[in-house]
Amino acid sequence: MSAEVLKYGMVGGGPGAFIGEVHRTAARFDGKNVLAAGSFSRDYQKTLKAGKDLGIDENRLYKNYTEMAEKESELTDGIDFVSVVTPNHTHFKIAEAFLSRGISVVCDKPVTTSSQEALELKQLAEKNDAEFCVTYTYSGYPMVKEAKELVEKGEIGDIRVVMGEYPQEWLAEPAGEENKQASWRTDPNQAGISNCIGDIGSHIEHTVSYITGLEISELSANLDTFVADRELDDNGEVMIKYENGATGMYWASQVAVGNDNGLKVRIFGSKGSLEWSQENPNYLYFSKLGEATKILSRGHDYLGNKAQKTNRIPPGHPEGYFEAFANIYANFSAALLEKKEKGRIEEKDFDYPKITEGLRGVKFIEKCVASSKQGASWVNFE
Ligand SMILES: NC(=O)c1ccc[n+]([C@@H]2O[C@H](COP(=O)([O-])OP(=O)(O)OC[C@H]3O[C@@H](n4cnc5c(N)ncnc54)[C@H](O)[C@@H]3O)[C@@H](O)[C@H]2O)c1
Repeated sequence: MSAEVLKYGMVGGGPGAFIGEVHRTAARFDGKNVLAAGSFSRDYQKTLKAGKDLGIDENRLYKNYTEMAEKESELTDGIDFVSVVTPNHTHFKIAEAFLSRGISVVCDKPVTTSSQEALELKQLAEKNDAEFCVTYTYSGYPMVKEAKELVEKGEIGDIRVVMGEYPQEWLAEPAGEENKQASWRTDPNQAGISNCIGDIGSHIEHTVSYITGLEISELSANLDTFVADRELDDNGEVMIKYENGATGMYWASQVAVGNDNGLKVRIFGSKGSLEWSQENPNYLYFSKLGEATKILSRGHDYLGNKAQKTNRIPPGHPEGYFEAFANIYANFSAALLEKKEKGRIEEKDFDYPKITEGLRGVKFIEKCVASSKQGASWVNFE
């Protein structure tokens, strides 16, 4: 692999923001990406302060993302990609500004607030030969990759039933304006048509799809809004039928008292089953019909190639959220570096979530909302 390092810019991730700092940490983990430009906030003074703290040249701190896209695309040493870590409703315009100038994009999920917009971004990336990564965090975990590999090897047979859940308690009561993360997520003008299914149901959808490769054919969703005066959903159950005849059930909740970030996925096949949960992410439960359950542990030689390649430290020293995120950046950076060196790449050879998955995720949210509005009727996924 090339010794070259990529330069990237960031939109969002200003003082007090959540995911921006996670992206910055993940991007620098393997020494392949350097933060060279930013528009970290709509408030330029905050961008200047954040940029100074991060050691970025003041000439490359921009008043807004449009100026950043224009100026960076004119520089000979301009950024190779931009990371978009702003609230959902802004992703489309920001990504469009960079893609239209041929700059690749890393964008957090949900990639846009409508599938039409996601489709337009996909087409724009293709037209301008730019790469597009959507940071579905959980596909970066080595033991999720192991689960995928075991399914691919046929170790659990034909998949019959999937159970996915993501319970949280943090929105069980009205959140005040001072809680920035809560206030935009519960506002339809900023979050889009869904809060809970959009924010965390989308993670179940992607994690299941990544592990199993199953395609949804139909779904039936019931979305609830339990907290008074809240406009969007804070809990939801989704029944799924997959194209191979398997069935599934996803539950996402922000009012599940006693739960922090309880993403758990269970996959049941004709010969075995798998269980992974993000709060105990270094272990994968693997059962074969009629045998005692095995607990596979990250970092061991008995794991498959995908899990071994993304492992960083010996077993028993816990890896977690930052490492998973860093694995997504590592794979995306490897793709961009190879493209710089060889002029072109086969996207499918690089294991990071792409715009096609981002588009499917937004469609999932739309279908859930449509079904729920029709009294949880079954809707085709198409
Ligand atoms: N992958 C994951 O697991 C994960 C986790 C958390 C959040 N997210 C996603 O990341 C995104 C951001 O979420 P968050 O919780 O970090 O939000 P946040 O409110 O903590 O941070 C958003 C930041 O964007 C800035 N911003 C808003 N508009 C801007 C603009 N036009 N230009 C520059 N900066 C702007 C704000 O000032 C703030 O600094 C959302 O799309 C969310 O769904 C993903």
